Amino acid sequence: MSESFLAVLKAILDTLVLDEPVAMQPHLIDWRKRHEGQALAIALPGSTEAVAAIVSLCGRHRVPIYPQGGNTSVCGGSVPDASGSGIVVNLRRMNRILSVDPRDNAMLVQAGCVLANVQEAALAADRLFPMSLGAEGSCQIGGNIATNAGGTAVVRYGNMRDLVLGIEAVLPDGTIWNGLRTLRKNNSGYDLKNLFIGSEGTLGIVTAAALKLFPRPRHSVTALIAVGSIETAAALAQALQTEFPGAVSAVELISESELALVVRHIPGTAHPLASEAPWYVLVEIAGAEGEAVVCDRLTAILEEPMAAGSVTDATIATSERQRQQLWHLRHNVTEANVREGLGLTHDIAVPPARIPQFVHRAEAALASAFPQAVPVVVGHLGDGNLHYIAMFSHADWGAMADKPGATRAVGHLLYDIAADLGGTFSAEHGIGSIHLGEMSRYKPPVELLLMQRIKGLLDPDELMNPGRVLPR
Ligand code: FAD
Ligand code: LAC
Ligand code: ZN
Repeated sequence: MSESFLAVLKAILDTLVLDEPVAMQPHLIDWRKRHEGQALAIALPGSTEAVAAIVSLCGRHRVPIYPQGGNTSVCGGSVPDASGSGIVVNLRRMNRILSVDPRDNAMLVQAGCVLANVQEAALAADRLFPMSLGAEGSCQIGGNIATNAGGTAVVRYGNMRDLVLGIEAVLPDGTIWNGLRTLRKNNSGYDLKNLFIGSEGTLGIVTAAALKLFPRPRHSVTALIAVGSIETAAALAQALQTEFPGAVSAVELISESELALVVRHIPGTAHPLASEAPWYVLVEIAGAEGEAVVCDRLTAILEEPMAAGSVTDATIATSERQRQQLWHLRHNVTEANVREGLGLTHDIAVPPARIPQFVHRAEAALASAFPQAVPVVVGHLGDGNLHYIAMFSHADWGAMADKPGATRAVGHLLYDIAADLGGTFSAEHGIGSIHLGEMSRYKPPVELLLMQRIKGLLDPDELMNPGRVLPR
């Protein structure tokens, strides 16, 4: 079967097919090298029609399809399973910016465009595409849409779901759905694009998108503020959003344990402040007011907590270079964590005001059950979303007898706390292949049932990213 299947696959117009082991390898293992699978081949379509032809062919031969973008998933969603019975469809050749319209504040892009290139194309038209995250040099718009990515600008601009006006997708039966509208309002029935946003490749392949653009802020002020407690960090996040309504474009949290790893492992970085503190808040305020006015107001806001000792230090970037240095620290946390040891990442969210409760309870629970794990915390404080990482040294993790059991136990410990505080076990990274157990444990049965029915309707043969998102 696979011989004739591969021959027909290779004959599809405008499609490159990789089936040599060396060429396939980068597509079979994820960015953090934690998940590895097998595949019959990697298909690299160059057009939506080619994607449709590939999907139809796979349907006829009952061959599973694993859609893939930049392969930066942190939950095992972007590589095939170990069976080797399916193909990876990677969109990287579909990387054209189709149009940028500053009057409508919209742009049309193919799904394989790398996020950083989309940001640049928007800037070239004096507009902002605000999605920003550490993987922006590799991840693709299709992957951002499929995972409903978050990142550092959600506090002001929302997540990917808020930034997509329309999509084009190839459905599991090979039908092309062109929903590339740039309307701001459209109440004509169910909002189908939202089915695909966050579906992680299980309902179809996103081939293009209409994205929302924004006026480019003329000024921005970036500051790193050292605080003595998580309560002060949370209060500061609130105060800044109240003081600068609508202008706070990022409020990020970094623990000292995380910053120390970045400084240790990322060449060319240095601790940005003279003294250490347990927590740092990285804030960006971008608005119509001039930089000097914002700096003065920010300094005034910090005066009282500094006098009281709850804010211990702060630096405001005075040049673009300094601003980039601060963001470089933030965007390199995952890279640093990979180099340090085995970090079990927990992408939790709770209502933002409950972040201090989560942090205290998580710290106590982890210290008592896994004293060898160091809590390393980074996240999107303004969204109530933390990446709470239990960092094990390679030696400690190597000595762990039951690694899957330990992974599950740490997860339940932390996710139970989040759930108890009205939160979630997956705020922005998605489900992939690693959170199927959590889906069964934390999702209300009625929600799971609805999802399974939708999946059954669109993909009755379960060929589209099988084994992802939905527990069987
Ligand atoms: P992939 O990893 O290739 O795929 C992810 C999922 O989407 C898979 O299920 C895949 O099947 C599916 N998929 C990919 N393309 C398509 C398509 N065209 N059609 C249908 N399905 C598709 N995530 C955040 O939300 N916020 C962050 O701040 C953040 N920071 C990160 C920093 C680093 C250093 C890294 C490595 C990852 C980070 N991530 C973050 C996770 C990840 O980068 C994002 O989720 C990103 O959106 C994935 O895009 P991708 O193109 O790499 O998709
Ligand atoms: C971040 C990724 C891990 O926020 O989501 O750095
Ligand atoms: Zn994040």
